[in-house]
This record gives sequence, structure tokens and C-alpha cells, in this order.
Amino acid sequence: MDEQYDVIVLGTGLTECVLSGLLSVEGKKVLHMDQNDYYGGASASLNLTQLFRKFRGEEKAPEALGRDRDWNVDLIPKFMMANGELVKILTHTNVTRYLEFKQISGSFVYRDGKVSKVPSTEKEALTSPLVGLFEKRRLKKFLEFIRNYKPEAPVESPDLDLPNVPMSQVYKYFGLEEGTQDFVGHALALYLNDDYLEQPAIQTHKRIMLYTTSMARYGKSPYIYPLYGLGELPQGFARLSAIHGGTYMLDKKIDEVVYDESGKFVGVRSGDETVHAKVVIGDPSYFTNKVKKVGRVIRAICLLRHPIPNTDDVDSVQIVIPQNQVKRKHDIYVACVSASHNVCASDYFLAIVSTIAETDNPQEEIRPGLELLGEIEEQFVYVSDMQTPVEDGTKDNVFISKTYDATSHFASVCDDVKDIYKRVTGEDLVLKQRPTQEEEQEAMANA
Ligand SMILES: *[C@@H]1O[C@H](CO)[C@@H](O)[C@H](O)[C@H]1NC(C)=O
Ligand SMILES: *[C@@H]1O[C@H](CO)[C@@H](O)[C@H](O)[C@H]1NC(C)=O
Repeated sequence: MDEQYDVIVLGTGLTECVLSGLLSVEGKKVLHMDQNDYYGGASASLNLTQLFRKFRGEEKAPEALGRDRDWNVDLIPKFMMANGELVKILTHTNVTRYLEFKQISGSFVYRDGKVSKVPSTEKEALTSPLVGLFEKRRLKKFLEFIRNYKPEAPVESPDLDLPNVPMSQVYKYFGLEEGTQDFVGHALALYLNDDYLEQPAIQTHKRIMLYTTSMARYGKSPYIYPLYGLGELPQGFARLSAIHGGTYMLDKKIDEVVYDESGKFVGVRSGDETVHAKVVIGDPSYFTNKVKKVGRVIRAICLLRHPIPNTDDVDSVQIVIPQNQVKRKHDIYVACVSASHNVCASDYFLAIVSTIAETDNPQEEIRPGLELLGEIEEQFVYVSDMQTPVEDGTKDNVFISKTYDATSHFASVCDDVKDIYKRVTGEDLVLKQRPTQEEEQEAMANA
């Protein structure tokens, strides 16, 4: 019989790599395989050759775009919240040591045909062109309340009992206009649609606090981004796994996932070789008969020669177009990075417009986002299915991740990591907050 592994992981997307890193650290014997010859799967960052090969077949990249190695184009646009869960996982595992981060320079929102900075503090609320004179004071009072809210303290009105009232009631209490609700819910709390209005307000409070505390960390936006693109994240975790004994194989043909008579996972066959393990973790593309489609996302990768108009010429930005503003059910996101993040040739900007498709003509649905970009040099549009596992893996030892959704940051990816971790190990993932490097040095100096 072949060598036994504890876990086989199929696909090198971020979810899979975080899990193989965490499990390797805990001493599990991990074999990690990918059919692609690059890391990252659906969440890879591609160089020019790979980008054109994926979207244009035989067509070669124009000379004007410059050198292959200058380009790292993300397939899935997402930014990291400076105080978010992914940053906690990165520091917990020390993977931060292999990466360098840069902040995203702006956070904007669309209202009544214009884009403006997202006001996140009371002071900004008072100067924001987004809201009218009287609304400014109401917004200021609302933000003040959010900042000072303590779950254990008594509240001044039953309307503000956040765990037990829907968010719509809190908006009503402060008298916030619908347009203001749009940017609070979609640009601060980063909800994709309006379902949150009827859910407990405490969830919205948590999300606004994540935004404002992340914002307070670096100042210009709550977001950070790894130099050389998001594809660096899975590679960082792959390195962690390798350091702890994990085995990685790229460009490996996966011919069959093998099960016993009772349908339990046995191993993976590649050619005439089968490797065995107790469990398998993988992305939906390896388990097409065990996943179901839950929707479609459209993304347009756009190469620009200029910053996005009306964003103060920043080198990077996120713009949220709240669904109500364009009469949709889901928000449209625009994420832009540039040469200062080592993801494209100098003088270029990379903007990705994305949303959840609601019609048979998704290209038309992202038009409000594309219209914000000005002239577009090259455009690569793709629509992909969002898939989710049909079962939780307890019966067959097959643990499948969800496809990356349309949200603009990594919260849902981290939720999936934690969820799979718990199903595989039977235990909650506990992230210890590690001391920062400065604190470590201080402790050493005092020792
Ligand atoms: C770009 O990708 C191609 C195909 O995977 C690879 O052969 C090439 O080495 C890459 N170029 C650079 C500069 O990394
Ligand atoms: C991270 O680094 C700290 C300090 O050097 C070390 O104690 C810890 O074991 C490391 N964690 C991992 C997961 O490698």
C-alpha cells in the first residue's frame, strides 16, 4: 500500500492553502496537489502570458503592455480589512513574515451618480458632500452611538437594544435617509444586499466597528493588500505547510477521487498511482458531483492608463455602488490597484468590476461600474458559477470549500476556513493573538 497521509488537499486556492498550513503546523501529514501549474486556483494572480492564455487563447499580449514579470493580475478581487480575520490568521501563523503589505489609498461610495469618500468618523460625517446639512447631524449622532455602544450598558431607548431589534428600527430611530442607509449598510458594513435591514442590528454594529477600527489603523482606507497580488497569500500558506512537512505538487493530473463501497473517501488516483489518506479537502472543481450551483458572479478585469476619475488620483481604491442606487438587488464593486502594488507595469492601473449576476445579460449589469473607469485599454470579462458543497463531509470524509463570492473582502473566506477546520478536526480554530515584532523585541531587551 502507498504511503498514508492524514489529509490530501486538492487545489491551491486560499481556503485550501490556509487549511493545509494550519493542519501541517499541528503535525498532520498533508499532501497538497493542484492540476494547474501555478498556485492559487480560482484565486490566483496571473502574469500576462497566463492572463492572455486564459481569456484570449492563441492571442499574444501586446508588446506595449511590457514584461510578463511586471504583471500579477488577480482573478478574484478582494481587499483585506486591516483588523479582519485573515490578518489574525496571518499573524497567528507567522505567514506575515513572507509577505509585504501596502494600504489601499481610498474607500469611495457611489451616490446619485457621483463618487465620494466614505465618511467613517463623526468629523468626516460633518464635512461629507454625500449628505445634506441636517442629515450630517443625524449621521454624526448615529456614528457617535455606534462608537460608544457597549453591549453590557443600558440603552436610552428600546429601539437601540441592538441584539433584539432589526437594523431598520435603528435607522428609523436616528431618522437616517434612505441614501444614507445605503452607504452605511453597503460601504461601511459592506453588506452585499439589503437582507440585513431585517436582521439583528448587532451584526451591523460589529461590521461598522470592523470598518472603523481598520480605518483607524492606517488612515486612508480600512484595506490592505499584499505586494505582488493576492496570489501571494496562498503561496505564503503553502510555504508554511512545507516548513512543517507538507508536500506540494503542482501540475499534477487528478484522474479520480476513489471511494470504498460505503462511499467513504479512500484516496486520489493520478495515472496508475493512488495515494491514500483519511480525509480530503478541496475546491468544488475537483468534486463536480458533490456540489451545487448557488448563483453566478460576473467580473471584468480592466487595464487602464490612468487612475479612476474623481478619486483624487489615488493609486488604489475601492468603490461600492450600493444596489439601490442602480436599482439592483446586489451591490457592484470596483477594486483598483496599480504599479505601486507590483501588480502591473508602471503607468497602468488594474480595475476589477464585479457583482452577482441577476439577469441573462450580466455584462449590462456591470455597466454602471465600467462607466466610472474612463477609457479602458483592455477588458477581460468572465462569468463564473458560485458553488457550495451539498453535504458537510461527515459521511464521506470529503470536505469541500465554497467558491469565492462577490464580497469585497475576506470575511466569508475566513468563515469557510473555520467551518471546514471544525468539521475536519472536530475542534474550533482558536487564534492566539501573538505579540507584534516590537513587543517581541521589547520582551527580549528586558529579558
Ligand atoms: C508567466 O507564466 C508562464 C506560464 O505559466 C510561465 O511559463 C512564465 O515563466 C511566467 N513568467 C514569469 C516572468 O513569471
Ligand atoms: C511563530 O513565531 C513564534 C515566535 O518566533 C513562534 O513561537 C511560533 O511557534 C511560530 N508559529 C508558527 C505557527 O510557526
